Amino acid sequence: MEIRKVGVLGCGLMGSGIAQVCAQAGYETVVREIDQKFIDKGFGVIEKNLSRAVEKGRMSSEEKESTWSRLKGTLSLEDLKDCDLIIEAVVEDLKVKNELFSQLDKLCPERTIFASNTSSLTIMAMAASTQRQDRFCGLHFFNPVPVMKLVEVVKTIATSQDTIDTCFDFCRKIGKIPILAKDNSGFIVNLLLVPYLLDAIRALEQGVASIEDIDNGMKLGCNHPMGPLTLLDFVGLDTTYNIANIMFEEYREKRYAPPPLLRKMVLAGYYGRKSGKGFYDYTGEKPVPMDLGL
Ligand code: 3HC
Repeated sequence: MEIRKVGVLGCGLMGSGIAQVCAQAGYETVVREIDQKFIDKGFGVIEKNLSRAVEKGRMSSEEKESTWSRLKGTLSLEDLKDCDLIIEAVVEDLKVKNELFSQLDKLCPERTIFASNTSSLTIMAMAASTQRQDRFCGLHFFNPVPVMKLVEVVKTIATSQDTIDTCFDFCRKIGKIPILAKDNSGFIVNLLLVPYLLDAIRALEQGVASIEDIDNGMKLGCNHPMGPLTLLDFVGLDTTYNIANIMFEEYREKRYAPPPLLRKMVLAGYYGRKSGKGFYDYTGEKPVPMDLGL
């Protein structure tokens, strides 16, 4: 099956990035949000990214214009009814996601493939809210979407091979490298990444080393582009807390249990870069490690 028009649910950090790469690759793309202010914010980020690409000579002004002409923001789910593929990137809340999927299931034609960008929920828990379990899969992108090459394509016990083949082809067309994962909470990357990030918080809690030294350890010792605490601030501490809770519920293994420090930081509103404070304080000119009273 050929994908021509893509619908994206949510215009946050992930949704706006997904919409950008789809429109850039030539797909007509409609992004649905619940409030115009979220569309404006997400489209502002896309504008900045595209302008930077033009400045750097990686894109022509004409390409930028044509990308914009393919992008549309909407508050109405109805506007997604003729999409061939719909990628959901809303809050990590099964009830919210399923409400959207079951409404769209009634609006969209049989051919439309539904996909979720969930980080930790199982895809089958969403597919079950629709009558198209064979045309339902996971498409898990990574932050920042325009830069990160990987997409995990998640096959449930009910996803058809045709859906997987179409999604692999789509991922390649938007310049990504797809890998196939089973529908286990966390798929491949978060199954391994989340315990690592939580262990970094536990190391800090236990006084193993300072924030900067933990980060420098992994940056310089393992050649990671970011240390784990910087990466936590980048992903969002609230997001990580949610993911860890969902994975702990699923596996009941200690390595997925969110450490108390993470919970306290989320309660304090220290969500990382997006709130200005996390393991580092971003309110000044340069990020500085936070005094967490440890
Ligand atoms: N959006 C678009 N482009 C961006 C960007 C963003 N948010 N951030 C950086 N870039 C681009 C820059 O424009 C630059 O492009 P250019 O060289 O053509 O100008 C390029 O990326 C490199 O950026 P910088 O030189 O500013 O900075 P770095 O070299 O430090 O790279 C980084 C930034 C790509 C974010 C790098 O630090 C990195 O790879 N970090 C790790 C990211 C990671 O691990 N992501 C996965 C998170 S887990 C996840 O998403 C799963 C979820 O389920 C939790």
